[in-house]
Order: sequence, then C-alpha cells, then structure tokens
Amino acid sequence: MSENLPPAIGIIGGSGLYDLEGFENREEISVETPFGPPSDVLVTGKLAGRRVYFLPRHARGHRILPTELNHRANIWALRSLNVRWIIAVTAVGSLQEKYHPRDIVLPDQFFDRTSRRDQHTFFGKGIVAHVAFGDPISDGLRGLLHEACVAQGRKVHNGGTYVCMDGPAFSTRAESNAHRQLGFDIIGMTNLPEAKLAREAEIALATLAMVTDYDCWKVEEEAVTAESVIGHLHANVAASKAILAQVIPSIPTEPNWPEHRSLDTALMTARDLWPE
Ligand code: ADE
Repeated sequence: MSENLPPAIGIIGGSGLYDLEGFENREEISVETPFGPPSDVLVTGKLAGRRVYFLPRHARGHRILPTELNHRANIWALRSLNVRWIIAVTAVGSLQEKYHPRDIVLPDQFFDRTSRRDQHTFFGKGIVAHVAFGDPISDGLRGLLHEACVAQGRKVHNGGTYVCMDGPAFSTRAESNAHRQLGFDIIGMTNLPEAKLAREAEIALATLAMVTDYDCWKVEEEAVTAESVIGHLHANVAASKAILAQVIPSIPTEPNWPEHRSLDTALMTARDLWPE
C-alpha cells in the first residue's frame, strides 16, 4: 500500500474547485479501492515543496450528488497514497447573521442530520472498532489554516458547528430556523463523513468552509439558488487557492499528531488496516 511513499497532503476540492494549478511534475493517477473508484482521478505533484494529492469531491464537471459520493473510496484512495493530512474545501450556507457570504469558517464541531450512514465507516463485516470523535477536526491543522487565512487578510471565523444534511434539495425554512435555534453555525452536505473516515484512517483533517449563502432563513436576502451565489462561489475558489498555497509549506512533514494515532485508543480488531 503506502509504505514507501512519503507522508503527503490531500486536498479535497468542493463545488467550483475542480483543479489546482502550480504542481511541479504534475501527474494524474487512477486509484482503485476495495470500495470502488474515488470521485475522479487524483492530480499529484509537488506543491510548495510538498507531495500533494488533489481530488475534486464532485468530480470534474460536478457530476456527483452529495448522496452519491463514495466517501469511503475517496478517503481510502488518499490514505493508500500515504496522505496523513487532509484539507477539505467546501461551500456552505450561513445559519447566523455574523457569517457573511465570502467569509471563511473553520468548524470545530459537526452535527449529523444525514441518513445514509453506510458511507460513514470503514469498519463492519467482522472488524469492530469505535474511534473517539469528540473533537472531530484536527486542532493542529485548523490552527495552521487559521494562520494562513489571517496572513492572507481573509475574514475568518475559527470554530463553529457544521450541520451536515443529505440534500440534494436545500433545507425548508422551518428546518433552517430549527438549525439556527439549535445554535448551529453553517450547513453543508458533505463534510461529516469525510471527517469520520479520516479519523478512522488516522489522517488529520480540517475543513475550510467558505460561505456562499444565507440558506433560506434570512428572507430579505436572495435565496440560496440565486445567481449571486455563483459569484460568491467563484470568489471563494480564488481565495481558497491562495490559502492552500500559504498553508501547505507550514504543515509538518512527519505525522506526529494525536489524530495520526487515533486507533491506539479505539476498541478494535482492526489495528493492521493501515501500515506503520
Ligand atoms: N452548500 C452551500 N450552501 C448550502 C446550504 N444553504 N445548505 C446546504 N448545503 C449548502
């Protein structure tokens, strides 16, 4: 599997982010996994001096719905290439006044409102393990992302709760208001399963969430489906590329964070899944 490859960084691109420029010795690689193929070929090369693998979550051309995503194949493919840090870039809706379109939120919590949980674990079929998930985001990687956002002069909120829904339809107003009352900060359709699988795969993951809309609760604002959202999406993609270029060189070269040993504290028969 990944024994001879150096520890690498994975970037999962969200809506609008289907490619990354600036790779030295850029290659595209197809990876097969026990769960089938990932969303697309992975693009790799050296970026800011580090081995990086880029995967567009929804595939180039945005062909895969959130509920159709093969999260297990995506995370397995990255782990098989010895990816030990993942930055998951994602478009989100704002559930609170203080998060404006084009702001960045670095969530530190998730709340699960999905129903399709088969994609939330590598375990099962005889392998029983329960990893700790009280702190679902890598503190270390979130801190580095925060520093990079500040260095880039971006409006960034460090922390917040991301509620993950199935989609593909956006929320009803009643749901949106309920999410607000529950104190959630942002809403999206993809990041919670990625974070769970990364934890099981001993990968440090942080989510770079970029606000495109106010969901549907803020009735004086344009609805989440409006044209203006596309403008925010494009601006966010440009910002995310600059932030990634800034953060990559600051990521450690050796996987020594607690997330890199998450199976040490899990009750399990699966210790041998990932090579040392
Ligand atoms: N992604 C971007 N905006 C969203 C919203 N309002 N709800 C769910 N996912 C989103």
